[in-house]
Amino acid sequence: MVRAIEWIDDRVRILDQSRLPHEVSYIDCSHHGMVVDAIKTLKIRGAPAIGIAAAMGIALSARGLKADSFEGFMDALQPVMDEMLSSRPTAVNIRWAVERMKGLLQRNRERPVEELKGLLIEEAKAVLEEDIEVNKAIGLWGAQFIRDGDTVLTHCNAGALATGGYGTATAPILMAVEQGKEVRVIADETRPVLQGARLTAWELMQAGVPVTLITDNSAGALMRSGEIDLCIVGTDRTARNGDVANKIGTYSVAVLARENDVPFYVAAPLSSIDFTIPSGELIPIEERPPEEVTHLGGHPVAPEGVMVINRAFDVTPARYVTAIITERGAFRPRDIKRLARKGVNLTELRVKP
Ligand code: MRU
Repeated sequence: MVRAIEWIDDRVRILDQSRLPHEVSYIDCSHHGMVVDAIKTLKIRGAPAIGIAAAMGIALSARGLKADSFEGFMDALQPVMDEMLSSRPTAVNIRWAVERMKGLLQRNRERPVEELKGLLIEEAKAVLEEDIEVNKAIGLWGAQFIRDGDTVLTHCNAGALATGGYGTATAPILMAVEQGKEVRVIADETRPVLQGARLTAWELMQAGVPVTLITDNSAGALMRSGEIDLCIVGTDRTARNGDVANKIGTYSVAVLARENDVPFYVAAPLSSIDFTIPSGELIPIEERPPEEVTHLGGHPVAPEGVMVINRAFDVTPARYVTAIITERGAFRPRDIKRLARKGVNLTELRVKP
């Protein structure tokens, strides 16, 4: 299985996704600043993967901190956490990871600082391993919606590379294949950074899943001609009302899917759901450098000085989403908010295939 990130010998090893698919190379981060840089420059990307990177970056930086009290330790760690939080704004997983690490420290505040450092490392490793298990559970719930012979369209990369392993949107596909179903994937190339072409196509080919690459503007025509049975995408942040932020272009895919009666599913680990915001309008959308649009592979493809809009994500209103597939089952977007409550009867809420 492709591993986007690992903790090896007190280093954070990141597979450099900016060089894929032509070169498989790794960056061994010995300092949290290297992790922050890798997140900002998309060497590691994808909501769950950057959450894991943030947890590991915090653990990495804690190792070198000198403090003789819990308060001193927290004060020294806070700027590192702030750097992680401001590295990329849309995915909620970074905040989720920072809060998890903070919670661990608060619960163990009576312990010596040296012990806390060890706990942070173990927690960061656990964040990675749990993510893989969560994805497998998403895969089991999601595979029910894929029939033998289906063709699935996906946008961007919500695969193993975007997570600890196995992926979110790819998990139902991989699970369906493991169950013996024949499944084909259509991957949108995903301008401007081409995560679909460079990453999804690459990792699915590695996994032996038949994958066909299309330009983003082909998706509608393929749906209209009946060549796509369902869409599955990932999410960077899903609001309480089921509005979904994901890679720019996801909204267009969802609207086209509705127009053509193609089911549109979102694979969302609970760590990607932001129960604190009522709707997608409040999700911060990252603006990325114009060069991502004006240049392709370092070569200019637009006149110098042209104005550019380069929003990395868009928000798909909940009404376009057939179901949100989580590790606890698939749910109608309007029912997502109920997952935050204790004692809710999930069996009643689950969407059946
Ligand atoms: O800019 P990226 O490559 O980080 O965008 C990634 C996506 O939009 C993914 O679909 C999302 O993070 C879900 S990953 C399981």
